[in-house]
Amino acid sequence: MNNAAIGIFDSGVGGLTVARAISDQLPRESLLYIGDTAHSPYGPKPIADVRRYSLEVLDTLVAQGVKMLVIACNTASAAVLRDARERYDVPVVEVIGPAVRTAMSTTRSGRIGVIGTSGTIGSRAYQDMLEVNDRLTVFAQACPRFVEFVEAGETDTPEVLAVAEEYLAPLRHSGVDTLVLGCTHYPFLKGAISYVMGPDVSLVSSDTETANDVYRQLVSRDLLAGTDAVPSHTYEATGDSADEFVRLAHRLMGREVRDVRLVQTG
Ligand code: SIN
Repeated sequence: MNNAAIGIFDSGVGGLTVARAISDQLPRESLLYIGDTAHSPYGPKPIADVRRYSLEVLDTLVAQGVKMLVIACNTASAAVLRDARERYDVPVVEVIGPAVRTAMSTTRSGRIGVIGTSGTIGSRAYQDMLEVNDRLTVFAQACPRFVEFVEAGETDTPEVLAVAEEYLAPLRHSGVDTLVLGCTHYPFLKGAISYVMGPDVSLVSSDTETANDVYRQLVSRDLLAGTDAVPSHTYEATGDSADEFVRLAHRLMGREVRDVRLVQTG
C-alpha cells in the first residue's frame, strides 16, 4: 500500500481527460497534475524541445514524491518514454501503448486510422507499434488545429466541424473501422470526430485505456492507496499565470479543478 500521489503531466489541459478517467477508476488515489502551460502546445515544437520540457516537468513531479508518473500527452510520450523509464525509479505509464493495444483488439478489418499532433504523427510512434502486426494497415493523419480549438475552449462550433471534415476525409475514404485519437485533447472533440467518421467507426481514446494501465500497475506493484486514504487532487501549471488553465479546466471539466498552483520547472 502507498498513499503518495500519482503524478500526471500534459502540455496543458488535455491530460485532464486522463486524470478524470484515473479518478473514476481509482477514487481513493491522490493526484498531482502539472500542465506545462508555459510551453504549450507541444505538437508543433521540435522533438528535442519537447523532450527537455517533458523531463523538466517529470523531474518536478518526482521531486514532490509521487509514486508513479503518467505521461498524459501523446507528443511527450513519443519524445521521452524510453528516457523516462531509465531515469526514474517510480513506474512510468504513457498513453500510446494502451491505445495501440485497444485498437488492435477492436479492429475487425485490420484498417486502423490514427490522428494526432504533427509531432506525434511525425515521430511514427503509433505507426511503428501498430505495424509490428503485418495484418494491420495504418492510415495516419496530423490534425494540428484540433489542439488549438480545445485550448481555446471551442469544441462544438461550425468551424470545428468544417476542419474535422477536412482532416478526416482521407481516413473516411480509406475505409478504416477503428480510429485512434492519438492526442489527449481529442476526446473533447469526440462529437465532431464521431459525426464525421460515422457510426461504424470505433473511436479509441487514450484516457480510459491509460487509466486501465495505471490500475494494473498499481495492483501488480502493491502501490494502491490504503482503505484509510484521504485523496487530494492538486493541480499545478507552469508560466506566469494560472488563470487561463483554470478557465479552460472549468469549461472542459466542470468545477473539479479549483485552486491551481504555479510551479517552476527546469
Ligand atoms: C500538444 O501539446 O500539442 C498536444 C498534447 C498531446 O499530444 O496529447
